[in-house]
Amino acid sequence: MQFDDSRAVYYPVSDLRITRGSGIYVTDSDGRDYIDCASATFNLSLGYGHPGVLRAIREQSEKLIHATSSFQTDVINKLSARLVELAPKRLTKAHLKVSGGSTANEGAIKMAQRATGNRDVVTLFRSHVGQTMAMAGLSGNAFRKKSLPITAVGGLQVPDPYCLRCFYGQERDSCGLMCVDRIADFLEYASSGSVAAVLVEPISGNGGNIVPPDGYFTRLRELCDTYNVKLILDEIQTGIGRTGRMFAADHFGVEPDAMTVGKGLGGSGAQVAAILASDELSGLPANDHSFTYGANLLSAAAALATLEVIDDPAFLANVRTTGAVIMERLSGIRSLVPCVADVRGVGLMIGVEIVNSEGRPSAELTNHLAQRAMDFGLVLRTSRYGHGNVLKIRPPLILTVEEAHLICDRFEALLRAHGD
Ligand SMILES: Cc1ncc(COP(=O)(O)O)c(C=O)c1O
Repeated sequence: MQFDDSRAVYYPVSDLRITRGSGIYVTDSDGRDYIDCASATFNLSLGYGHPGVLRAIREQSEKLIHATSSFQTDVINKLSARLVELAPKRLTKAHLKVSGGSTANEGAIKMAQRATGNRDVVTLFRSHVGQTMAMAGLSGNAFRKKSLPITAVGGLQVPDPYCLRCFYGQERDSCGLMCVDRIADFLEYASSGSVAAVLVEPISGNGGNIVPPDGYFTRLRELCDTYNVKLILDEIQTGIGRTGRMFAADHFGVEPDAMTVGKGLGGSGAQVAAILASDELSGLPANDHSFTYGANLLSAAAALATLEVIDDPAFLANVRTTGAVIMERLSGIRSLVPCVADVRGVGLMIGVEIVNSEGRPSAELTNHLAQRAMDFGLVLRTSRYGHGNVLKIRPPLILTVEEAHLICDRFEALLRAHGD
């Protein structure tokens, strides 16, 4: 009998073994292809094996794979300059010595703490800001904290702008943005009185693809200015073209004090993340946030190649067009298949909220649909946070209009077969 090597893997894994990937497709060991609507871990902005990214990695590997980050290298200098050039104008520095999104968020918090002399961090209900101890502690879901006696910086979670199921029972058009205004009460009565930052995903990714209403970020910026709290945008899922703009900050027209990027920056899977910070937040001493595999040269080369592809008006316009095709088609499906309660998104960051025959959020049906999606040639992932009833559609940004229709054809067939 063949030795089952998967038994040595610490965490549970699916029976499916992936052997190849190309563009928007992954292939399993039986030779079946699936459109990956999760872009792997929402990080393959350019899909599997993008030739430009592969070339950049190959060329850099022949020159230099690693140098300690206290020396200058062309590739790190260039990537820092490029990120600053593309970022909202208040952000003038790029810090690449992080190992991923979680440590980028931690670094941005340290910067805000140092700049303000304050301690606590405000995050939103249902938010996911990473899985280091501190970031799991700050994320807005009990199940992430349940198995660990986590101790972290003082964090307080406040209601998110989830208009479909508003915490305050308001309607989107007449709420007066209570979900921002009431944060003042949390600062006053629920914090330690020493709040350094608000850390927020512009569109809540794992929380259910929650898109804030118009005016949310203008009001949040005002609130942060009033209370001298730094606004950190976690653009680890939303950044690098996902919304059809380089950053979701551009889409919402907001100037943060710091922004974190990761995931899609690596193009076809290179491990790279960054903190972009304003002058005011640039005072963190050199080695107070520094990881061995941060500022990795191969990854930086991949990131530069990725930005070259994505920072093209035609490329970003295609993200908006393909996203609009999917939004329109899936919104049409809503009237045909009653399990779809909402379709929401920006660019290619789309979520479909699933309910049961009684109209209640159903994690069970959502998980069932995600499992059955494989039979229809789709990899779909669900939001585990909140009600756990959102199917996420976030294919690689290289999607064509024909492929967008193909996803919708398969998705519709899936819902018709299994949506009740
Ligand atoms: C919005 C958001 N922030 C932070 C993180 C953490 O990033 P990483 O897994 O690279 O540490 C994630 C990862 O899923 C994320 O989705």
